[in-house]
Parts: sequence; C-alpha cells; structure tokens
Amino acid sequence: MAILLLWLIFFKSHSCENIYKFFEEINENARVFNSIGADIAWQASLDPDKEGLAAISAKYQHKKIAWQHDACRTLKAMQDRRILNSTQERQAYLFCRGPKYYYKEAREMSNTYEELQSIYSNIQVCIPNSEQTTNMTDIETAILNYLSTVKEYLNEEKTEHSSIVAAKMALNVHVDNALLCLKGEEDFEKMMEFSRKPKVLEWLWLVWREKVQGMREPYKKLVNVENKAAWRNGYRDIGAAWREELELPNLREICRQLYRSIKPLYVLLHGVVRFFLRREYGDAVDERGPIPAHLLGDLWSQNWEPLADLILPNPINLDDRIKNLGWSVDDMIKRAEDFYTSLGLPGMTETFWRKSVYTREKHKMARCHGTAADMFKDGDFRLVMPFRC
Ligand SMILES: *[C@@H]1O[C@H](CO)[C@@H](O)[C@H](O)[C@H]1NC(C)=O
Ligand SMILES: *[C@@H]1O[C@H](CO)[C@@H](O)[C@H](O)[C@H]1NC(C)=O
Repeated sequence: MAILLLWLIFFKSHSCENIYKFFEEINENARVFNSIGADIAWQASLDPDKEGLAAISAKYQHKKIAWQHDACRTLKAMQDRRILNSTQERQAYLFCRGPKYYYKEAREMSNTYEELQSIYSNIQVCIPNSEQTTNMTDIETAILNYLSTVKEYLNEEKTEHSSIVAAKMALNVHVDNALLCLKGEEDFEKMMEFSRKPKVLEWLWLVWREKVQGMREPYKKLVNVENKAAWRNGYRDIGAAWREELELPNLREICRQLYRSIKPLYVLLHGVVRFFLRREYGDAVDERGPIPAHLLGDLWSQNWEPLADLILPNPINLDDRIKNLGWSVDDMIKRAEDFYTSLGLPGMTETFWRKSVYTREKHKMARCHGTAADMFKDGDFRLVMPFRC
C-alpha cells in the first residue's frame, strides 16, 4: 500500500511537472512562431512582391500548422484524462479553439487573400478625355463630359439605367486612348469627398462597385475554405467561430440593445443630414426615407465628415489647420499618442518610433493601407502608414 501510495505521489508530481513543462514549451514556441509570422507580415506590407517571401511564408505556415495540430492533439488527450487544472484547461481551450486548417487550405486561404488584396488595390478606371487634367474640378468636368457622351450614344436623356450603362462602359475603355484614369481607393475617395455633382458621384459609386465585382469569386472560395475549417472544429460556420471568440453567449441581444439605444440619436442625425442634403441637391434627396448612398461624401456612406461645410455653421478645416501649424507626421502621431496616454494607456515604445514607416521614401512598394503590428518581441510595436501614397 505504502509503495503504491509512494508510486502514485511520484507519478502525480512527475506528471504535473511534465504538464507544466509542456505548457512552457507551447508558450515559448508560440512566441517564436508569432514573431516570425509578424516579421513575414511586416515585410509583406512593405514590399508585397519581395523575392522569396512567398516561399518563406509557405514554409512557416507548414511548420506552424503541424506544431499546433500536434500540440492540440496532446492537449486533447490530457483533457480527456482530466489531468489539467482549471488554468491549464482554459489555456488549452484558448489555444485550440477556432477554425482548424490543413496546410493546403491555409495556403489556399493565403493565396486567395493575396488575390483579393491585389484586385482591390489595383482597381483602375479610365475614361477618354481630350484635355489634361490638373485639378479635381478638371476631373469632375471630364467625368461629366464622358457621361453626356454616353447619354448621346444611348440617344436618350432620361433613362434610369444610363448611369449603370456608363459605369459598365467605362470598364471597357482601353488605357491607351484614355487620358484620365482613377486609380485605387485613394483617387475614388478623393473624388467622392470633393464632388457635389450627383451624376458624377453616382457614376463613381457605380463604377467602383462594377469593378470590385471581380472579388466575388475569390471571396466565395475564401468563405468555403474558412467554413470547412470551422466545421472541422465543431462550429456551424466561420461566423460562429468568430462570434464564439468573444465569449458572450448573448451577443445578438447585446448588439440589438446597442442598436436600440443608438437608434433615436441616429434617426435625428439622419434627418438633419437629409435636410441639408436636400437643400444642396433638391429632389435628388427625398423629404422622407433613406438618403441616396452616393451623396454622403464617402464611397461607403460611412464617413459623413466631408459634408461638414453643408451642415455646420462654422466648419473647421482640420487639414488646413494642421498645415498652418506646420506639423510633421511625427507631431501628428505624438498628438494621437497624447490622446491614448490621457486615457491611462502607456506611451509608445522606443522601438515604435524607430521602426514605424510613415513615408514611401525608402519603401516604394509599401501598401497604402495603414497597418499596426505587434511583433511579439519586447516593446516592438510598429505602424506602417504612408501618409501620402
Ligand atoms: C495550474 O498549474 C499551473 C502550473 O503549475 C499553475 O501556475 C497554476 O496556478 C495552476 N492553476 C490552478 C488554478 O491551480
Ligand atoms: C483647375 O485647373 C484649370 C486648368 O486646367 C483652371 O482653369 C481652373 O481655374 C482650376 N480650378 C481650380 C479650382 O483651381
């Protein structure tokens, strides 16, 4: 009996020690994998086509997936034997939850993301134009001329669908004989902000959507892969896996509540904006009901700031103010930092100021879309945000 007890105690402590070591090992490996992954992502955002990066990324993915599946298999066996304490149970759950990809699927997913990103960032729409354009007003005029040419061609002044036809036709203009091209989100956004001509705005809105349709097929592919990986780990679909991450069983109710509480304010704001837009655009905006999406100053109708001068009695032009202050990019980021430290968060680290990228000077190929990165090394957080692309 004594021997058995001794053996049990020995086995138990030994096993605990092993479990402890196993978790330490997972921690250490996770740190290494995360920092390699962050480094690959960082390089990709500075130079997406960097030679050899795709191969490194594939190899990394292969190793990481094999490691994670192995570790989760071991953890599952430990959970089945009920030898983990509550902290370890929780850690095992956090580590192994979510969609479970096989290597091939993970590759397909990365490639599809890449494809989507490339379609999106290379969007370009050109129209014939007989004159050089030097400013936004010129571009607006060129678009209006183009639209009236299409109308003439269609030989009808007031078809409801002429704008859609004009958008579809613009996609077929060959770049060679076009003098005016709008490139990427940035050009489109600038025009959406600038123009106050409903026809121009409608065309921009439509042609953008015609163009991004190319993302539909790759996106479907992506959803299929992600759903498959979610099913494999017991979720209904990838959406369920994402929602579960929040660990709020009544998530839907919380969202409905938030919506209900914000709705009265939103309805008022919507009414005020509609009133002022009607003043500007007349019957293009109904007195009641929804506001046409293309009139809200933004490609997605989500940022209404460009409408400020129509609505506020004394609008402040922040761009001009900042220019007058002579702030550098560093100054702007420091002021943003002031905001966060005023909320009680720690200031940015020395590495942040040293490694972040704000201009494309040394990184010509850097993606224009701002990204923040945790490099999974002490204090190494970075920002890539080329302020002028
Ligand atoms: C579980 O074990 C780990 C490692 O020995 C320990 O750090 C942790 O505090 C334990 N948790 C509980 C709830 O006993
Ligand atoms: C835009 O440029 C044209 C010349 O291409 C000029 O005639 C016009 O005044 C400019 N408009 C503005 C607002 O600067």
